[in-house]
Amino acid sequence: MENKHLLKDKEFLRQHILRIQEINKPQNFQQLFSQPQPLVLDIGSGKGEFATTMASLFPNLNFLCIEKRPDRTLATAKRKIKNNLQNLFIFQGKIEHLIPHCFFKKSVHKAFMNFPDPWPKNAYRNRRNLNPEFLEEIYDLLETGGDFHFATDVKSYAEYAYSLLNNHTGFVNQLSTPWVHEVSEEYKTLFYHHAAKDGLQSHFLHFKTV
Ligand SMILES: C[S@@+](CC[C@H](N)C(=O)[O-])C[C@H]1O[C@@H](n2cnc3c(N)ncnc32)[C@H](O)[C@@H]1O
Repeated sequence: MENKHLLKDKEFLRQHILRIQEINKPQNFQQLFSQPQPLVLDIGSGKGEFATTMASLFPNLNFLCIEKRPDRTLATAKRKIKNNLQNLFIFQGKIEHLIPHCFFKKSVHKAFMNFPDPWPKNAYRNRRNLNPEFLEEIYDLLETGGDFHFATDVKSYAEYAYSLLNNHTGFVNQLSTPWVHEVSEEYKTLFYHHAAKDGLQSHFLHFKTV
């Protein structure tokens, strides 16, 4: 593990974080990792708890965290370094700036969108990241048979996501219901736990591309 004082050095941590100006259009993300392996996106990865846990559990997959807030990407970089994760990279910026120009088509194995900001008031619904155009872009970058996981604690957002996905001919529901409320421990993110503490149910959707 790196020296402990380096974990407090923002300049050092920033070396582990990519920004849009450092990315090619399109970018071969596999070149970032020590070996090419199926690529998994964590869109809106927060402080990286979920992605770093998954990257430790699945060393045969490469993880790309995408997070707009610099403080949260620094926290993720700390986790990456502490856990010596060679199979995780961090992009600091808005997902809409990374998509659609930076990914090769069909280059992503799985994409997670865990508890995206819900913008519950009607007036702000158009700020939600998941919308028809965004879904089309996700569809284009996922490989055939690729997974799209979406989770939210806001029922109306779950209903909206389900109707978008279910009406898209390129996605097939992997569950026998629109969503499930419970998942195995490693899929329970920080915001799942925040919601549970507030007595809110979470909704987990899982679709595959065809
Ligand atoms: C509610 S938090 C969820 C964090 C984590 N996925 C979880 O489930 O614990 C949503 C995260 O998405 C990030 N975010 C919101 N809009 C984004 C965007 N357009 N591009 C990248 N990240 C975004 C926020 O900064 C925040 O960290």
